[in-house]
This record gives sequence, C-alpha cells and structure tokens, in this order.
Amino acid sequence: PVLVVDFGAQYAQLIARRVREAGVYSEIVPHTVTAADIAAKNPVALILSGGPSSVYEEGAPALDSDIFDLGVPTLGICYGFQVMARALGGEVANTGLREYGATDASLTGDGGVLLGGQPDTQNVWMSHGDQVARAPEGFEVLASTADTPVAAFGSAEKGFYGVQWHPEVKHTDRGQEVIENFLHKAAGLAADWNSGNVIDEQVARIREQVGSARVISALSGGVDSAVSTALVHKAIGDQLTAVFVDHGLLRKGEREQVEQDYVASTGVRLITVDAADTFLGHLKGVSDPEQKRKIIGREFIRAFEKVQLDLVAEAKAEGEPIKFLVQGTLYPDVVESGGGTGTANIKSHHNVGGLPEDLDFELIEPLRTLFKDEVRQIGRDLGLPEAIVGRQPFPGPGLGIRIVGEVTADRLEILREADAIAREELTRAGLDSEIWQCPVVLLADVRSVGVQGDGRTYGHPIVLRPVSSEDAMTADWTRLPYDVLSKISNRITNSVRDVNRVVLDVTSKPPGTIEWE
Ligand code: XMP
Repeated sequence: PVLVVDFGAQYAQLIARRVREAGVYSEIVPHTVTAADIAAKNPVALILSGGPSSVYEEGAPALDSDIFDLGVPTLGICYGFQVMARALGGEVANTGLREYGATDASLTGDGGVLLGGQPDTQNVWMSHGDQVARAPEGFEVLASTADTPVAAFGSAEKGFYGVQWHPEVKHTDRGQEVIENFLHKAAGLAADWNSGNVIDEQVARIREQVGSARVISALSGGVDSAVSTALVHKAIGDQLTAVFVDHGLLRKGEREQVEQDYVASTGVRLITVDAADTFLGHLKGVSDPEQKRKIIGREFIRAFEKVQLDLVAEAKAEGEPIKFLVQGTLYPDVVESGGGTGTANIKSHHNVGGLPEDLDFELIEPLRTLFKDEVRQIGRDLGLPEAIVGRQPFPGPGLGIRIVGEVTADRLEILREADAIAREELTRAGLDSEIWQCPVVLLADVRSVGVQGDGRTYGHPIVLRPVSSEDAMTADWTRLPYDVLSKISNRITNSVRDVNRVVLDVTSKPPGTIEWE
C-alpha cells in the first residue's frame, strides 16, 4: 500500500482519499510508527501529512528518521514537508511569517516530475507558520511564493518530494495533479484500484470478524446506513437483521419510505422499533446540544439492546447474544467527534462520540474511513437504487438537533410541517441534486413580533440552511433562487402555526457547521 503518515489534524484521511481517487490503495499509520513497522508493511510509497504543530514546539509530533533510509519514494506535505527537510539536513525556520489560505506559488524551474507541465504561477492553499529556509543537500527547489522561498522541493534520484501547500484540498487548483504525479511518475504506481476492491476487501473482513454469529444493523433511512447494511448483507446474508428505530424525531413520511424502499430493494429482514415516547421522555427539559446528542446516541443503543434480547428469545438460543452491531459511520463523523489523531471535538455524532460507555456491542463499521461520495459509489456498485444512494444526508439525531431549545412533541409537529413544505418546494424546483442538504431549523426559544390577519402575533422563526458541499467537511450556503425562497416562506408562514418569520442562513462551514446543534 501507499502509507499516509498521520501527524494529526484532519488531513490524513483527505490525503488517503485523494490517493484512492488516483486509483491507488492507501492506508493510514500514526506518526509514532518505527521504520521497522513501516518496512513490515512493504509500502510502495509514503506520504507525510500536514499537522497542527510547529516542528519546534515542545511535544511536536516526530518521526523515526530511519524511515528515510528505507528507499521508499516519499512525498512530504506541509508539516510533513518540514519534518522531511529537517531530517535530511535542510533547515526549518520560525520566521514569524504566516501564510493562510489562497496563495500564489511560482515554479522556479521546469517543476521536475512533481510540478512539470503546471502553469508558471498557480493558486495553492497554504496553512503554516514555520517554513523551510534551506532545502537539504541534493534537493532542487521546485517552487516558491512571495514569503516562502522553498515552497516545494524534490530529489529525482531519491524519489523524495515535498510541498509546503496542501495539494489534497480542493482550493489548490492543481493539487490532485501533484498527488498523481508523485504516485504515477515519481513512484511508478499504476492506477488499478477502485471501489469494487473496497467491497471485496470489506466482505472478506466482515466474514472473518463475524464467523457464524448473528448480527443486527442500524438502519436510519440515510445513505450511509443503507450502504453499510447492504455491504454486510452481501457478506453474511441471513445472519443479518436490520433494525429501524422510530425515535419520533423523523421527518414527515420518512418511516414509511424506509420500510418500503429498503426492503423492496434489498430483501433484508427489517424490524421497526417504536421508541418515540422513550426518546422524548429522556429529552424532556434538555436544551444543551451535546447533552441531546449523547442522550439520543445512548437511547439508540438501548433500543438495539432490546431488539438483541428479543431476537435471542425468539430463536430460543440459549444465552447466545448478538454481539455485533453494524453502523454506517463515515470518516467525517469520526473527525468531528474528535476521533482523528489530535483533532478537536466539534460535536458528538450520535454514532461515535454519542455512544454510551457501557457499550455491549462489537461494532462493524465498514465505511469508517470513507467519505459520502465514495459511499454513494459503493452503494451503486452494490445495486442499490438511486432513490436510496442519491438521498440527501439527514442526521441520525434527526429533528432533535434542529429544534434550538427543548424538544417537545408540539415543537416537533411544527418543524415537521415546515420541513415538509421546504422539501416539497425544493424538489418541485428541481434543486435536489444542486444542494447537499437543507436543514430546516426551529428557533423554539426565540420569539418575534409579527402581524397576521390584522392581529399581532408573537411567534417563532424558522431557519432555512441550504448548503452545497462535497463531503460535509466544508460547505457553502447555496444561492437559491429568490422565487423559490419566497414560495417556501409564504407557504410556511401561511400554514404552519406559531411560525411568523422565515430566515435564511448565509454562513459557510467553517465558521458555521451545517446543523445548528
Ligand atoms: P455538521 O453539522 O457537523 O454536519 O457540519 C456534517 C454532516 O453530518 C451530519 N450530522 C450527523 N449525522 N449523526 C449523523 O448521522 C450525527 O450525530 C450528525 N451530526 C451531524 C449533518 O447532517 C451533515 O450532513
């Protein structure tokens, strides 16, 4: 494999994903691996990721420098570029200068194997404080910026290359080309890996993990759980039962849709659990977002545990528990819950940071290292219909994290109506494939004055949060046509009780997240 050495932050998985896009198999290893660990994995190339630190900071993530004696082609990115420069005898300086965001980088020669054929000046995305002041001996400087004299370097002889910028982010114009030049030209690797390989590998891994045990799968109606369930079904067939928990936080018509679509297209045995009263009971009086998320995460698990007991009783299996639970966890869920190396907890996704500590299940999460669009492709390869794989994301905690304030049955009813109107109008306007998703949020603790039918009202605002995104890690607000917004606003304020205002969220991510809680 290509090994991506993780120095923290959120970059390593993104790099691994770009390597997969280039048709090459990759795995991630922590920066604490030794040269011997690496050698044992027989890597065909190494990529050193960016990271949050300065190489001079105390406790800065280090790397076993014997790794550079293994004779494996290596690409250093940002922090990884500086680690490489230092280990090979170059110089890294803390100049006090910082470069963040879009920056112009200029080739200093023909660009070599790494940047050859790219424009003389190109837009790259930077995020660094320290900089490489002198390239190691035998290395050619390939590019520079106004503030960074050594912004890229390489040694064709050693097969070592590095860039100060982030080629893995979409904001770098020719970033993917840099990664592909390194993989295909510098390391000589063929593009022969695709999502079909993921399916074969996961099927084999799941069979080995599960043996003849029975398994339940958490199905939510969303893409991720649909694909993970289908994948596990392919691996172990009838050993699997899918469980759909109706937690009372669903959108209008959602339960019926899951029950019909999913069973019709996969033939998986499905159990629906009615748990609305239980969830609402536990959410009573709670308005803190993280607390809501943890309660919902925990109650999901409690519902699965109950199904587990029922199934065991039904099969009269003597005390044989169903110890495996399939979840459709994706990589962004893991990162935001603080699960990457050295990453901050932004919010606890119900299926990661929201899990209870006394979890009795062994988890099967075949999509844990992937991004949504990769998962959609796998779903298509598995034969799931477009109605399922093309669906917009909807979070497991559902409307529970779209009511800012306490969640009550009454408020849910209001939000459900407003959401149904927004979805209907967006679909009617043919905008479904243009937007990534459009959360509709009820600001239940906010009131404002309105006038309706000659009378004063004192109602709540509804927020529309349409976003465009590629992988939910970053997003921009979607510029919806005014006439569509106007239609949605009119219909909601005319027909949804207690709502007298509709507002539009025009914040990108970052700094906002997609969901309000
Ligand atoms: P944020 O709000 O973090 O959302 O920008 C990123 C994406 O993740 C979805 N999301 C969740 N999905 N469980 C889920 O299954 C969760 O707890 C959760 N929180 C956020 C959100 O809808 C968006 O697509």
